[in-house]
Amino acid sequence: MAKLAILEFPDERLRTKAKAVQSVDDEVRKLVDDMLETMYDAQGIGLAATQVDVHRRVVVMDVSDDNSQPLVLINPSYTPIGDEKEPLSEGCLSIPEHYAEVPRYLKVELKALDRNGEPYTLEADGLLAHCIQHEYDHLEGVLFVDYLSSLKRDRIRKKMEKRHKQMQGA
Ligand code: NI
Repeated sequence: MAKLAILEFPDERLRTKAKAVQSVDDEVRKLVDDMLETMYDAQGIGLAATQVDVHRRVVVMDVSDDNSQPLVLINPSYTPIGDEKEPLSEGCLSIPEHYAEVPRYLKVELKALDRNGEPYTLEADGLLAHCIQHEYDHLEGVLFVDYLSSLKRDRIRKKMEKRHKQMQGA
């Protein structure tokens, strides 16, 4: 397994719409394993392939407290169950150190393929439902800052650009 580099906002590559996976083969499984390692190393609860500059519809997640429940979502789609939304504070490995409340559907039904290419369905609520919607957005080139006012988004962009300058200078 190998740790992958995570793209950071406002990198334009994060705006790429990912393409569907045609067959879940060893190459895809290696990507999944590398993404899980990268996510756990960065102490995240979700990572989309878009964030590691691979523009295919692959997501990994683990919302457990002890990294014991890895979840693999290949070609995911979801439908809201009910129309109730709740705001929850969100972060993103591509926008480190910034958090904001984003309203998401309370409950969703997820459909995806697992790491063996087997289809599954999952009813999710709470943090998991939130995470599914956040990661799905990544595959569409959407970031949580897109839900904020342009004023707030610009403020975060400036801070991120400053961070990247400092990293280059170090
Ligand atoms: Ni994210």
